[in-house]
Amino acid sequence: MVVGEAPGENEDLQGEPFVGAAGQLLDRMLQAVGRSRQGQGAQGVYIANVLKCRPPANRNPQPPEIAQCEPFLVRQVALLRPRLILAMGRFAVQTLLGSNEPIGRLRGQVHHYQGVPVVVTYHPAYLLRNPIDKRKAWADLCLAMDTAGTPLRR
Ligand code: URA
Repeated sequence: MVVGEAPGENEDLQGEPFVGAAGQLLDRMLQAVGRSRQGQGAQGVYIANVLKCRPPANRNPQPPEIAQCEPFLVRQVALLRPRLILAMGRFAVQTLLGSNEPIGRLRGQVHHYQGVPVVVTYHPAYLLRNPIDKRKAWADLCLAMDTAGTPLRR
């Protein structure tokens, strides 16, 4: 399971998460580890957001909005029982881990949310702006695969 921040305008219009350029990068990242949002069983990835609708003018989510939406995420995780959650970006990471630490300090470890292992990484929109960090994101994906029980050769 991937958890992102919030739908953008295109996501709201299409009713699907991650459909823009960041979504295309996410699809390529998933493909690199043999996963896809269309995949069945262990190959499939369910994509959710912390916020269930778009904040006005795409501004950052505010704490009361995150708190209002979190019960939906809790229920999604309970119903899905994913092997692993990949938390992408500051808002997803801080919401799932209840932490204010920056992503750089939380990467490289396995955390837990509702008993499900959580690996944190950068948001694909951030990676589009900072491609130098793609190598760190690759290391995070490798940790995610190791944790999910399907290690990759590096
Ligand atoms: N960014 C997100 O975090 N989620 C989306 O669904 C789209 C862009």
